[in-house]
Amino acid sequence: MKLRNRSLLKNQSYINGNFTDASSGKTFSVVNPYDGNLITQVSNCDRTDTKKAILAAQYALDGWKKLTGIERGRILRRWYELQIEHLEDLAILLTAEQGKPLVESRGEILYGASFVEWFAEEAKRVYGDIIPAHQQDIRISVIKQPVGVVAAITPWNFPNAMITRKVAPALAAGCTMVLKAPKLTPLSALALAVLGEQAGIPSGVFNVITSDNASEIGNELTENPIVRKLSFTGSTPVGKHLIKKCADTVKKVSMELGGNAPFIVFSDADLDKAVEGVINSKFRNAGQTCVCSNRIFVQEEVYDVFNSKLAAAIKKLRLGNGLDEQVHIGPLVEEKAVKFVEDLVADAKDHGAQILTGGKRYNLHEDSLIYEPTLLTDATQNMRIFREEIFGPVAPIYEFRNEEEVIKMANDTPYGLACYFYGKDFAQITRVSEALEYGMVGINTGKISTTLAPFGGIKESGFGREGSKYGIDEYLEIKYLCFGDIN
Ligand code: SIN
Repeated sequence: MKLRNRSLLKNQSYINGNFTDASSGKTFSVVNPYDGNLITQVSNCDRTDTKKAILAAQYALDGWKKLTGIERGRILRRWYELQIEHLEDLAILLTAEQGKPLVESRGEILYGASFVEWFAEEAKRVYGDIIPAHQQDIRISVIKQPVGVVAAITPWNFPNAMITRKVAPALAAGCTMVLKAPKLTPLSALALAVLGEQAGIPSGVFNVITSDNASEIGNELTENPIVRKLSFTGSTPVGKHLIKKCADTVKKVSMELGGNAPFIVFSDADLDKAVEGVINSKFRNAGQTCVCSNRIFVQEEVYDVFNSKLAAAIKKLRLGNGLDEQVHIGPLVEEKAVKFVEDLVADAKDHGAQILTGGKRYNLHEDSLIYEPTLLTDATQNMRIFREEIFGPVAPIYEFRNEEEVIKMANDTPYGLACYFYGKDFAQITRVSEALEYGMVGINTGKISTTLAPFGGIKESGFGREGSKYGIDEYLEIKYLCFGDIN
């Protein structure tokens, strides 16, 4: 891996402003999913290390929260600038550990940095309220204060942006943080810590725990009463478990969980644009995002023509090493992920699905983790693929007759994160936008992610919003001050 600045490649956790070995001395391997080569060994922290990080965050809290929003914002702004300065190295590191194509990694670093830029500004806009009182001698005001020490657990599919999306609003609000970095992709997190230190984030304000034992670290983060909030991005089953664990100490929680996004193509849609929308929303990160379209519903009048257009577009996608500039689809993150996709496709075939293109592992070399971008037609509701989050480059197509039927099918899932639809009839667009039970709706677009808009789901996709003017609220407590005897 050719980095211009080798100091960004760290292999120790970051606790209280120091890169340190695990107290046990143990390490675990981080490998490149494209070729299985070892990148480095990283400190394998346990509960003891996590406790130390929590205490460091507690100790640092008072000084950090007393800074003005402008002062905290200046440090965050510097952090943002450093991320932009080191964009290329951060992108290379991300592709090496995660596998996504370099062009997507660059996009992720810019996306990630944009949260830091945004919340550097928001730090100075934590406004309170004055409320007209109920008595003449009373005055009521409302202030907002940082929640305190926050824990964050982030996923491997966005090793950079899912971190900045949590840490930037937390720090802007005056909280301190202990981050559990993803086991498969801890290097991007550590590189962020290097740049955070250079930007002037004081010791203990941002700590990064690396470990291959998620449950041990999760137990400490959720059981320790010093931690006042947990922000988690990951699967719904793990999210449910963490919510239960946080109940004992009544922590605030934000959960960005799994999705099962419908993508609806009505017969009056611009089909070429809808195909582009599927390519954007389905094949980003080889299908490994929570907002990837998971079930594609196409109205019967345009079913065949849409499928052949989509198959042609899919065949143009180039597969290979994410570090190669020409590549659109890199490897899945690990063997388990490929097996899961293989099983879903086998089940769909057993239940009558047809494969128009793809449908197997790409035999680049033995043990290749690349799965061919796949188009499955004749998909039906009795297949596993209808209910389960695919997390791979497989696009199942379901045929539908009318609006009422497709809304019913689209909402027939416990998930409610993102959804998409294409059409031109304004009245239908309005009705469908209102009827879809999702936190985010893409209308004639397959790209919805931006710092400026509230990202988050409903139902079993979680609660809380990240980014936008709402994102900082997740890290603030509302306090009401009642001033009496004002005569
Ligand atoms: C995710 O997959 O969880 C995040 C995707 C995004 O922010 O666009």
